[in-house]
Amino acid sequence: MFTADIYSARRAELRRRIGKGIILLPGNVESPFNYPNNTFHFRQDSTFMYFFGHSVPALAGVIDVESGEETLYGDDFTVEDIIWMGPQPTIRNFADEVGVAQSKPMAKLQEDVRRAISLGREVHYLPPYRGETILMMSDLLGIQPSMLHARKSWDLLFAVAQMCECKGAEEIAALEEAFEIGYQMHTAAMRNTRVGRTEHEVAGIVDGMALRYGTGVSFTTILSQHGEVLHNHDHSGTMQDGRLLLCDAGGEHLNGYVSDHTRTFPVNGKFTQKQKDIYNIVLAAHDAAAAALRPNMMYTEYSDAAFRTLIEGLKALDLVRGSVDDAIAAGAAYLFMPHGLGHGIGLDVHDCENIGERSFSFAEVEERAKEAACCITRAWWRLQPGTVLSNEPGIYFVPDLIDKYKAEGKCQGIVNYDKLEEYRDFGGIRLEDDMIVTETGSKQIGSKQIPITVEDVEAMVGQE
Ligand code: GLY
Ligand code: MN
Ligand code: MN
Repeated sequence: MFTADIYSARRAELRRRIGKGIILLPGNVESPFNYPNNTFHFRQDSTFMYFFGHSVPALAGVIDVESGEETLYGDDFTVEDIIWMGPQPTIRNFADEVGVAQSKPMAKLQEDVRRAISLGREVHYLPPYRGETILMMSDLLGIQPSMLHARKSWDLLFAVAQMCECKGAEEIAALEEAFEIGYQMHTAAMRNTRVGRTEHEVAGIVDGMALRYGTGVSFTTILSQHGEVLHNHDHSGTMQDGRLLLCDAGGEHLNGYVSDHTRTFPVNGKFTQKQKDIYNIVLAAHDAAAAALRPNMMYTEYSDAAFRTLIEGLKALDLVRGSVDDAIAAGAAYLFMPHGLGHGIGLDVHDCENIGERSFSFAEVEERAKEAACCITRAWWRLQPGTVLSNEPGIYFVPDLIDKYKAEGKCQGIVNYDKLEEYRDFGGIRLEDDMIVTETGSKQIGSKQIPITVEDVEAMVGQE
């Protein structure tokens, strides 16, 4: 956690941006795994953490925009709780640590919210994404669960996204610490990979590193010889000679900030020429995007730098023909890389995605999204100093997608479908690093490089 003045300043800025009403920010509660007392690993809501700091279940924060009154709601632990959990701070202690003047038991929350509603004041809230929070918010606000989304506060949503996107120096330092965990995870994966081992064994080592140095993984580890399956959480394969292993994994630091990296490497430690050719195109796209990244550019320009480099490389291999512009216009880039180049990173591995374009449509507020120009709508995202985002190009050979393109007659004369047959079982390659936009350009997060060149990767794989 940061010092109280940081959280106080963030809440003051949020108040300034919202102007009127009350802001309700619920924290997450424990979520049962298979029975009530056996819960999933607790993860706090990132917006709550950003404004109220604590990664403790069952808290809520309210900010009265007009009066400036701030309240932390929660219940003090009883002796019965303490028997199981050990001594715990009081809610008053929690409030002091983040500069909040008022603390109240949770039972008061409904009373206070209902009073605000009865006075005709707007209650600003973000669309809840967890079942438990949806039910709690529905009760508190007297809004049907299915209607909560429709009545979310666009003002709050844009204000939070714009504030969270622009990382302060303390957050950048925290992200640098999270990088170190990612470094340990990925170099452990490389060192421990060898023919005959199971993907499970290596995934376990990767996840163990996240726990050893932080609170655990920042998302479910993707580690598979089927890199063409983008979010492949199946680890049941045994490492085969000649295959590539894709590892997309990140760690969360004790400070809550996260890393997100991908490396793809040969199981036997040596790329074939065919693998090397594709790998080096992905690496060139990664480097081109990193070189292009600078303040005030649109996300789409950043992304184009990678896509254009990918197409150039595929043309050199005669997998794509004609001009880069024609290939992109025809959808060839999507055939080989059916995902975006990047996403925000911060307290969430896809920062602000709970309030972003991938959670719902921005069509009804398109003009506002353009004006806000922040990470939640990538089409209108203008990158600025302090923005942290991933750089994750890939080339994937997805047999079903190739067949679909072919059957629909897409990219005829542009994609060399005959040659593509030679790559049907290739799998997929992705490379991912985390970037920060600076005042003058950009830099990769981290004091060192997780091996990425063919030579550096080959020198590490299997060298336990
Ligand atoms: N962790 C999934 C991604 O790279 O976005
Ligand atoms: Mn990733
Ligand atoms: Mn990512």
